Amino acid sequence: MPFLPSRRADFGTERPPNPPRAFDLTRTLPDDVGLGWTAEECLPPLLHEDGARYTPDPFGPLHARRAVARFLATLDANCDPESLVLAPGTSDLFARILETLTDPGDDVLVPEPGYPLLDMIARTLGIALRPYPLCPDDPHLDAAALRARVGPRTRAVLVTSPHNPIGWRLGLDDLDVLANLGLPVVADEVFRGYDHLPGPAPSALRLRGKVPLAVLGGLSKAALLPGMKVAWASIGDPDGTRFRDTVGLLSDTWLGTASPVLAALPRWLEDAPKKRDALRRRVAENLATLRATVIACPALTAPVPASGWYATLRLPAVLDEDAWVAAFAREDVTVTPGWLFDFRGAPRVVLSLVVPTAIFAEGLRRIGEVIRTVVDRR
Ligand SMILES: Cc1ncc(COP(=O)(O)O)c(C=O)c1O
Repeated sequence: MPFLPSRRADFGTERPPNPPRAFDLTRTLPDDVGLGWTAEECLPPLLHEDGARYTPDPFGPLHARRAVARFLATLDANCDPESLVLAPGTSDLFARILETLTDPGDDVLVPEPGYPLLDMIARTLGIALRPYPLCPDDPHLDAAALRARVGPRTRAVLVTSPHNPIGWRLGLDDLDVLANLGLPVVADEVFRGYDHLPGPAPSALRLRGKVPLAVLGGLSKAALLPGMKVAWASIGDPDGTRFRDTVGLLSDTWLGTASPVLAALPRWLEDAPKKRDALRRRVAENLATLRATVIACPALTAPVPASGWYATLRLPAVLDEDAWVAAFAREDVTVTPGWLFDFRGAPRVVLSLVVPTAIFAEGLRRIGEVIRTVVDRR
């Protein structure tokens, strides 16, 4: 099977290496940036009576699904615990959901740019990813552009809200566009609740009953516990329960997450808000630094993200993306090149907004200096 038509397909083979430097603005793992849980905070809930028992359920035990539904309600995302299916990661859920919705040779619409999570899954399933444009400087769902991308074998449309990396989040108009498209909607909401604009974004869960729907989230971002390997999807099917049941049937084969982890899940979700708040404070401070840097460096443009853990920088086209990344690396700053997310057009790089504030500030100062020097030389 030919590889996917993606510029990032050659990642790690033909691209220059991008090793971490002193000012590493790519880190997002909570433990790496001082936002993780200590063993004292994280491990005691595992010593729960229920964790020693094994009661297999393809959807995950109901007590754990109820805890997830309670947690989602605190993020303005209401769903019935019965609609939820738990698995050891969103990739696992994406695979089961897409396997349910497609046959080999089909395709699904995915945002471009976007987080490169699905390439391998699509390849394994023998389906194609059909990109639809999400303009990084004015992101919204364009009904005509989406419709133009629908082909005879298009089986679903995928959205990421908050979007990684551009920070776009669904609005009510976007939900109408999705409802009118009429395709099953698979919404990745792992970054839900990390908003920089006032008010919560509407969840794709509002599409329940209108189109077949899967809305995903997980402990990695919800509670900053990526190592515990729990994710969830709320699945809704306006025509009955075939979608949810088929995902359940596939899950019955894999029966993913370990019992002690599922027993501890309710406690972790109850404790998650303080971890989330610490991360939000970090992001707010780094965003303020970013705004100040952009004001001081007119050659640099950074669209203000509405939500999420990332910011993108648009760089002057006097160098290409890899040359900019290399120039920053020479000043000991690591950033993620835009091509990894299939950005088109102007050179862009992606920064993590969750790195420690002193590292972010100094890294960004150096980036500003490099840009000034390069632009002045031209
Ligand atoms: C948009 C998006 N979806 C899904 C994931 C994977 O999440 P998990 O580790 O919970 O499977 C990531 C990881 O960063 C992500 O950025």
